[in-house]
Amino acid sequence: MEKLRHMMNPLDFSVEELEELFDLAGKIEKDLPGYSHKCDGKILATCFYEPSTRTRLSFETAMIRLGGQVIGFADANSSSAAKGESVADTIRVISCFADICAMRHPKEGAPMVAASKSTIPVINAGDGGHQHPTQTLTDLLTIRSLYGSLKNFTIGLCGDLKFGRTVHSLINALSRYEGIRFIFISPKELKVPDYITEMLRQKNIPYEEVIKLEEVIPQLDFLYMTRVQKERFFNEEDYIRLRNFYILDKEKMALAKEKMFILHPLPRVNEISVEIDDDPRAAYFKQVQYGMYVRMALILTLLGIK
Ligand code: NCD
Repeated sequence: MEKLRHMMNPLDFSVEELEELFDLAGKIEKDLPGYSHKCDGKILATCFYEPSTRTRLSFETAMIRLGGQVIGFADANSSSAAKGESVADTIRVISCFADICAMRHPKEGAPMVAASKSTIPVINAGDGGHQHPTQTLTDLLTIRSLYGSLKNFTIGLCGDLKFGRTVHSLINALSRYEGIRFIFISPKELKVPDYITEMLRQKNIPYEEVIKLEEVIPQLDFLYMTRVQKERFFNEEDYIRLRNFYILDKEKMALAKEKMFILHPLPRVNEISVEIDDDPRAAYFKQVQYGMYVRMALILTLLGIK
């Protein structure tokens, strides 16, 4: 039997394994019908203890497009968590029903606890302000498809770099590729956590921290915008003060390179003006499409289906 594998952190896969995964996602993109029976008879459980639209529906669509079926819950209150059941017990039960599980949880590390007790592959679909590896796979596949490689570019990450888990996962993942320069754009209160800048310093990876987007936008090949993470704030006043700190509009885009791509994990609130949506550099809806292909590839890989 193949060894049980989970996806907790983008670094769980080597760079070579990620290349294979992205190649597979590329094949799926070109031949969706060719993959429509690969998971016949298989079941995906989506256990979401926190709100989600994209990630859960993307996982569910991915499994359905592979011919499999889906069970799960989208709200902790409708699961036995409301009765006090632990994540460890829930996953033991889910392991009896499903072949693979995607779990989102507000507590950092909860999917990891689940993985340690599970007999089926568990995918971390976002744990608190910590990691969001499948969004990162989506981001990497999008960058690779738009730019042609995962090397030699400058990426600006803008907005809530403190609580934004997609940012933490993406920086982690990109730190393994050559020639990447990071520019972190945030208000002082929402700076990227120290453990991340410490990791970059140790690996000698260049980064800058700035407050004004206009000052650095001309240098960027990618601009990764993020939402201010309302649900992780301790007080509402701080959120209200910071929520509209950045608004990407036509004026700012006029300063950017002609080939700078805008990424966003979505949902968007106010940080990208809708007037930008028709700009050919706006790649955030394309990103959603790549997310489905990469989740299809991940499900196949973790289930050991060729
Ligand atoms: C992100 C998340 O849940 O962390 N959304 C997503 O999964 N695409 C980003 C966010 O909520 O801001």
